[in-house]
Amino acid sequence: MMHLRVASVFLCAMLAIVVACERLPGAPKASIPVVVGSPSWTLATFNTNCRGCHSQGAEGAALPLVNPGYWKIANDDQITKVIALGQGVSMPGYLDENGGPFSADEIDALVKGMRSMWGGEPHDGNPVLPGTISPTLVVGDAVAGALVFESACANCHGANGPAGSVTDPMYLRLISDQGLWSAVVYGRSELGSPPWNSPMPNHPNGLTPTEVADVVSWLATKRTQ
Ligand code: HEC
Ligand code: HEC
Repeated sequence: MMHLRVASVFLCAMLAIVVACERLPGAPKASIPVVVGSPSWTLATFNTNCRGCHSQGAEGAALPLVNPGYWKIANDDQITKVIALGQGVSMPGYLDENGGPFSADEIDALVKGMRSMWGGEPHDGNPVLPGTISPTLVVGDAVAGALVFESACANCHGANGPAGSVTDPMYLRLISDQGLWSAVVYGRSELGSPPWNSPMPNHPNGLTPTEVADVVSWLATKRTQ
């Protein structure tokens, strides 16, 4: 008992000194040491730099990253590259060599930290969507994609649908093909947007990987018109 008391009194004294010191003019700010890659560093880094765009719900302009479905499909090399170099016109690059705030090691640590908090085991491949499409390569048949859109998407995204237009050229200029692919594949369940493999109108088992590629290719043709 005695020991505990002494320890806590000692701690109070130390704290008082720290607090008092902080009030001295010119004294350096007492800061909590944060280890790069630790959960607290990862969270603080995410909250400061990414959360404004990548949070859940209507305020998140981009795909939420606190999203196990995302980490299950996306691969770490690709994620690292996007963070370093950016994607499309709306996602800035974060690598110091390109004027960003982070070194390559810090970006690596951020990706590993986010995966261990939100996504489980890392993987290199793309086990859920094998074959011709991958997050880096979206090549489909735009003519077939028009039919996919009509049957699977138009109920929600058509002229009288409850969801916003995704065929508006102004919207399409702001989002890359990769971003469209991600929007269709991962969905935004918190906003009512279904992921690729869940039931959609006329597609009770969701879409096939080919249908995803086709509809993305069709949307891309709308961008240039
Ligand atoms: C059950 C209704 C529903 C269906 C079916 C659906 N979506 Fe969506 N989708 C939504 C909702 C709701 C959103 C979220 C916000 C919004 O745009 O209204 C959304 C978001 C999106 C976005 C992202 C918009 C952004 O925030 O950048 C894209 C792209 C998209 N959908 C494409 C598609 C495509 C392509 C299909 C067909 C394969 C499809 N959606 C099927 C409801 C649906
Ligand atoms: C200004 C808003 C903004 C900020 C800040 C931002 N992002 Fe993004 N991010 C986006 C948008 C928008 C996209 C989709 C761009 C596209 O494809 O056109 C995106 C795409 C991504 C993707 C790729 C998603 C996919 O398609 O697979 C990753 C990963 C990502 N961002 C991570 C981050 C991380 C980590 C941070 C913080 C270090 C961050 N972003 C900061 C807006 C932002």
